[in-house]
Amino acid sequence: MKTILITGGAGFIGSHVVRRFVKNYPQYKIVNLDKLTYAGNLANLKDIEKEPNYEFIRADIVAGELIKKIFQKYRFDGVIHLAAESHVDRSIANPTEFIYTNIIGTVNLLNAAREIWEHTEGKLFYHISTDEVYGSLGSSGLFTETTSYDPQSPYSASKASSDHLVRAYHNTYKMPVVISNCSNNYGSFQFPEKLIPLSINNIRNNKLIPVYGKGENIRDWLYVEDHAEAIDKIFHSGKIGDTYNIGGNNELKNIDLLKVLCRIMDQKLRRTAGTSEHLITFVKDRAGHDLRYAIDSSKLQKELKWKPSVVFEQGLEKTVEWYLANEEWMKNVTSGEYLKYYDSQYNKR
Ligand code: NAD
Ligand code: DAU
Repeated sequence: MKTILITGGAGFIGSHVVRRFVKNYPQYKIVNLDKLTYAGNLANLKDIEKEPNYEFIRADIVAGELIKKIFQKYRFDGVIHLAAESHVDRSIANPTEFIYTNIIGTVNLLNAAREIWEHTEGKLFYHISTDEVYGSLGSSGLFTETTSYDPQSPYSASKASSDHLVRAYHNTYKMPVVISNCSNNYGSFQFPEKLIPLSINNIRNNKLIPVYGKGENIRDWLYVEDHAEAIDKIFHSGKIGDTYNIGGNNELKNIDLLKVLCRIMDQKLRRTAGTSEHLITFVKDRAGHDLRYAIDSSKLQKELKWKPSVVFEQGLEKTVEWYLANEEWMKNVTSGEYLKYYDSQYNKR
């Protein structure tokens, strides 16, 4: 039986990856290590928490000595590293936490794996990263695996730094690694600081939908379960030392995405068509706001036979249905600290 460590498994993408691996691979023991920051929530894993091949450890990846002890005890065969500070706006307000978790935390995991992996046969350190490391595109072009790094926010600079360190450990110590860089995910269990769940929650409560700048910025949207499937394929069949870009082939201007979302929300809430769109409000732009991200994922499609399967409007409708059916979840994550965060971000815009 292989023991696989998944870090950040109580977060948005991590919880989907943990669920997929626990259900599909009974021959693996899945250990989910998470600090449970504001973004981590064990309620995201309620349906699988009693499975015999699942275990949860609450720990901070910044605590290097503790991480080493955990690796000594469990002798992990594989690591899928998702734990991170993930929100760009928070990185603008407070970059330091991003440096600790995203850079030092990643190095601690690499060091702990290096210490226990004397023989690297059958071992893998899989680092989950973002398309934001490539910087911002103009109106044309796509990010490929060979696009030069040009991160623009403290968040993307911290992720770029961790990517470089993972590659450096492969080059220097022959650490068996693989990296993937993905575009914007959407789906269930996403913390409502991100555009789609924040807007769903605001529309539900008749609050304004804050659109940064003119809403002209473009993102490529991928359904989170498609991302989890890509991670599964890369973990099992990716080439050691390689990088894979993951994208949804689904570029949208923020304002156009929000208009689609408003239409779906009006239908689901049985409101007169056009009601939700009135909530759209243009606010002060994000500092250093990247204009456009777009991914060329043809390497992954060709080599590992993966492609995005969920059509955006259908995925968005499923996502809306999930949030409306899980109002308790939303209430829990938006109480307390969240309100302070929301005021600090949006009252001054
Ligand atoms: P998230 O913020 O929802 O979850 C992050 C998880 O990491 C949380 O459970 C949190 O408790 C945990 N964590 C944070 N700091 C920790 C620490 N010091 N020690 C242990 N655990 C800690 O993030 P997400 O959106 O699910 O993103 C997961 C990963 O995927 C990140 O590495 C992110 O950079 C990357 N990514 C995200 C997207 C996206 O659209 N959300 C796209 C591409 C890549
Ligand atoms: O591209 C991958 C990245 O996608 C991941 O690495 C990040 O972890 C993830 O947070 C996401 O980053 P973005 O900054 O693109 O996501 P966010 O949901 O914060 O914003 C999406 C777009 O919407 C962006 O152009 C900013 C804009 N926006 C966001 C919020 C929260 C608004 O206009 N209003 C808002 O209130």
